[in-house]
Amino acid sequence: MPTATLTLNGTSYELPVVVGTENEVAIDITGLRSATGLITLDPGYGNTGSCESRITYIDGANGVLRHRGYPIEELCEKSSFVEVCYLLVYGTLPTQDELEAFARKLKSHSLLHEDMKKFFEGFPPSAHPMTVLSAMVASLSAYYPDTPENVDLNIVRLLAKLKTLAAFSYKKFIGQPYIYPRNDLDFTADFLHMMFEVPSEPYEPSETLVKALDLLLILHADHEQNCSASTVRMVGSSGADLFASISAGISALSGPLHGGANTAVIKMLQQIQADGGDLDKYIAKAKDKDDPFRLMGFGHRVYKNYDPRARIIKRYVDEVLQELGLDDPLLDIAKRLEAAALEDEYFIERKLFPNVDFYSGILYRAMGIPTDMFTVMFAIGRLPGWIAQWKEMKNDPKTRINRPRQIYQGERLRHYVPIEERSAATPA
Ligand code: CMC
Repeated sequence: MPTATLTLNGTSYELPVVVGTENEVAIDITGLRSATGLITLDPGYGNTGSCESRITYIDGANGVLRHRGYPIEELCEKSSFVEVCYLLVYGTLPTQDELEAFARKLKSHSLLHEDMKKFFEGFPPSAHPMTVLSAMVASLSAYYPDTPENVDLNIVRLLAKLKTLAAFSYKKFIGQPYIYPRNDLDFTADFLHMMFEVPSEPYEPSETLVKALDLLLILHADHEQNCSASTVRMVGSSGADLFASISAGISALSGPLHGGANTAVIKMLQQIQADGGDLDKYIAKAKDKDDPFRLMGFGHRVYKNYDPRARIIKRYVDEVLQELGLDDPLLDIAKRLEAAALEDEYFIERKLFPNVDFYSGILYRAMGIPTDMFTVMFAIGRLPGWIAQWKEMKNDPKTRINRPRQIYQGERLRHYVPIEERSAATPA
């Protein structure tokens, strides 16, 4: 077993080294504080392994992403979102019978309790669908209690109901009547039907749209210890139930540096378009440290190479637009912006490449999905990953309540001064 040696004030400490199946190496500092009194400091956890996991492998330097060992490229080409859900949550690819039984279960649990419609009515019309989704998922705990016997069933319930909650939150947002799930449609087609059908006009989703959405959902299905997955694990580590943990993950995802980036990319491209398409101006703004503007959809904590998900979407977006007979000027701006950034020293030096969000919004737009729903789409895709991470955390005997330490940099001990004395000492 390899070890690492830490020398402090002339005393050496041996720390165990953990090696993963893909030869990733970590120094295990679990015993560091009891042996030395020291902690490690790593704001943003960029160098901190929070767990050992068997779900997803990323090699950021080489742009590799695999779920349970299977390359994302193969899953996108050969699998379906429902099959990938099964793979992530249960750890293996299903047999035909297992897949059919799983798909049937997802259909039979897709309805919401009728009372939940009253919750939707309570939100103001302007409520963002992500806010509604997070609140509705948290409220599922009230209907489906968390008991050890219920865990597996609650996982299926959540996988089945999230798309109904998402579609209802959209209908609420645009003021249309809710459309109920249909059991004769597969998962992705059913979601599109709940989104786009109106009572006066039946809607049959086209194969092109179903395939495109299925691909986008697979591409978002998991991404190891990202901000929202870590949030799910952290909330779950306190013993909070599945619904509370996933609701917290949805809130974490909503931020513009995480899942909200897909919305921010479209807003950025629209702004560039409205501003006459001056790419140099926006590249310069992104490089200017005094300007808060960043190139949205660019850069990643882990990928220091082209994000393999962005590569797949970029290839696919042209095909879908062509099949749908659409021409989106934002796609042209995005491609030119990417080319300009990839030639710029600032982006080259920092290894900043397009991430999954750079082209996904253009595909969502082509499918008729409005910008305010983009992050909700990310949440539907990411759900199996969150559930797999939550389940793994629950079943890991090494799990303890997540509770980082800090280095205190505040005031040293001082004594309370009565308000009269403080006021007298400070002239008005
Ligand atoms: N535009 C301009 N500069 C950037 C960008 C960008 N998009 N991203 C990083 N940088 C610079 C950053 O200013 C820093 O420069 P310097 O070394 O001179 O201070 C350097 O690159 C390293 O960046 P960082 O902020 O330290 O990197 P991070 O790992 O903390 O942040 C990130 C990663 C994804 C939050 C960041 O790249 C970013 O804000 N990107 C834009 C938002 C975005 O697209 N988010 C979606 C991420 S992928 C989907 C998901 O997983 O949710």
